[in-house]
Amino acid sequence: MAFPERPTLTLRGCRIYQKALSREEQVRMLEALRRVITSAPFFSPTTRFGKQMSVKMTSAGKYGWYSDARGYRYEEKHPCGQPWPPIPEEVLNIWHGATGLDRTPDCCLINLYRDTAKMGMHQDRDEADFTWPVLSISLGDAGLFRIGNEDRGGKTESIWLESGDVLVMGGPARLLHHGIDRIRPGSSTLLPKGGRINLTCRVVD
Ligand code: SIN
Ligand code: MN
Repeated sequence: MAFPERPTLTLRGCRIYQKALSREEQVRMLEALRRVITSAPFFSPTTRFGKQMSVKMTSAGKYGWYSDARGYRYEEKHPCGQPWPPIPEEVLNIWHGATGLDRTPDCCLINLYRDTAKMGMHQDRDEADFTWPVLSISLGDAGLFRIGNEDRGGKTESIWLESGDVLVMGGPARLLHHGIDRIRPGSSTLLPKGGRINLTCRVVD
């Protein structure tokens, strides 16, 4: 696919490409993700403090993001002991189109939000080099994305990310705090059981 040259919107330096994926492309991406999830099923990570996260996760690529009592980190294997499946071609095409980079990402984290799932404000800072951007793809129900500052607290801004939206956090936006306050259940028919899937691709090493 030809990726749009310009973002439809920029929010605090995050480039947002609304509806960058057609419905057909979203369906194809979901089919590719189904194959990933069959070999690397979703699991519920816990925080360092032992609290179960409301979002279910799995990954594709050389590394998967993981969290338990030992903290946040990247792992080379799914908790079942198998290596993570490769990142689907459909996702890599969006990465190259939106970032313009030749380098492929090491990790594609797949987050599943159902019903009341949310994600608290955090920075993505478990990677070695923050000059590489983070790419996010939203599928399914809309999610209320909140973006803040490099330091914790302060004023924030929010935007509903809808199915097919692509967001790039790079440059000065790379370390901004961000999170998902809530999803809007029933706002998309893409996922048969409802909910929202968000993919985030990152260079880890
Ligand atoms: C994340 O920050 O890992 C996920 C963001 C999102 O779900 O849009
Ligand atoms: Mn994040």
